[in-house]
Formats: sequence, structure tokens, C-alpha cells
Amino acid sequence: MVPWVKLGRAQIPNKGGELLFSRRGEEFSIRLSGVRGELMNSRVYNSEKELSQLGCAHLTSTPNAHVLVGGLGMGYTLAAALNEVTPCSQVTVAELIPEVVEWNKGPLGNCAKNPLQDPRTTVKIGDVKHLLNTRTPTYDAILLDVDNGPEGLTHSDNNWIYSLDGLQDIYEVLKPNGMLAIWSAGPDYLFSVRLKTAGYKVNTCIARARKGKGSKHTIFLAKKAIN
Ligand SMILES: C[S@@+](CC[C@H](N)C(=O)[O-])C[C@H]1O[C@@H](n2cnc3c(N)ncnc32)[C@H](O)[C@@H]1O
Repeated sequence: MVPWVKLGRAQIPNKGGELLFSRRGEEFSIRLSGVRGELMNSRVYNSEKELSQLGCAHLTSTPNAHVLVGGLGMGYTLAAALNEVTPCSQVTVAELIPEVVEWNKGPLGNCAKNPLQDPRTTVKIGDVKHLLNTRTPTYDAILLDVDNGPEGLTHSDNNWIYSLDGLQDIYEVLKPNGMLAIWSAGPDYLFSVRLKTAGYKVNTCIARARKGKGSKHTIFLAKKAIN
């Protein structure tokens, strides 16, 4: 059995513990310290891709779309968003942990075929929250996969994103007909209700962890139907 080799570690802000980056042969893992588990594994990424495919389905012929991805992880959601949008579109990716960006510029780069090198990509190191509370309609799609579901796992500040206040602020930064897509390990009825209360038209889709098989994850699709 090929052993895991530690490649790096990084502090999560606000005493959120550590991210641990390791490799076993061609497989990579990013874990949260303690018992909080794996945040991302390079062999399981189908639902991360579907997050982009579903969230950007309305943009395949939009000439100058702007998509926001949070966070980077191993780059699969970013790469899939770049596949969906047109050549003159732009994709901003926000990543909280600077080391994750460095790992993607290094050993992780090949996993999703180096989406950071695409000229349409802009990287913002920091909390995606700072791009979500500007109250200026900016994005045609916002694709969020920063926790395991609508609850702050990576760090507790993320709870704001899933609160009614957060969802209403996100509504403001979407352009008319813009789409908010959120990855979740499973369904959450109360979160769907909260999205509707914030003004979105809501659908949920099941996305399998591996193409056609594996765990069933939930993608929340919340559309800004007006203004
Ligand atoms: C589950 S991984 C994302 C996996 C990604 N969808 C992919 O395709 O590889 C979560 C990522 O979000 C980042 N993150 C967590 N909270 C964040 C925040 N508030 N702002 C920006 N990035 C955040 C984490 O550091 C981690 O890199």
C-alpha cells in the first residue's frame, strides 16, 4: 500500500485549526485538522464539476459573463466554470488560504488541468465574503463550495453566507437572472426555505460524487428572477 506523504499545512484564520495537504501516489487530499475530515480529494470531483455545469448553464452563449467561484480547493469547479463560459467571459476565484493557491500552482495544478493559468481567471486571496457584500450587481453566476453544506465547516465566519442576511446580500451582487449555486453533502429543507425567503427562485439537483455512482450530493440552485 502506497503511504500518505504530507506535502504542506496551513493555518485557517480565526483559530480555525489547520488544513493538511498530502499525497499518496497520484492521489491528493486536503483535510481539516482534528476530526472534521476531508475537504477535498483529487479522485472524487464529479459533483464539484456539476456545480459549475448547473450554475453556469444559462451562460453558454453570454458574451461577457462574470462568474465568481469560492473557494479554489483543487480547481475542479473553477476548471468546469471555464469550460462553460465564452472566450471573453471572466471567472474570479476567491480562496481563503494562500497556501491552497500555492499548492494549485505546484503539485495540484495538473489535477484540473491548470485552470489558474487560463487568462480568463483572476485569483483573489481572502474571504469570499468580501466579494459577496458589496451590494453592486456584478456576477452572472456565483458558485460556492467552501464548506460541506450550508453550515460553516472550514471556519465559523462562513455561517454568514448561509444566513438570511448573507443570502440577501448575495442577491444584491447577482445581476438580473443571475444564479447562486451552492454545493452541499446533502439536502437541507430549512436552507431551501431561507433561500426562498431571501427572494430566490429555488431548485435542488442531485449530483453523484463520481460520474453515475457514489454518494449523492445536493446542488442548491437559487435564481435571481427579477431586477
Ligand atoms: C471543498 S474545497 C473546494 C473544492 C473545489 N470545489 C474543487 O473543485 O476542488 C473548499 C475550499 O474553500 C476554501 N474556503 C473556505 N472558506 C472560504 C471562504 N470564506 N472564502 C474563500 N475560500 C474559502 C477552502 O480553503 C478550500 O480551499
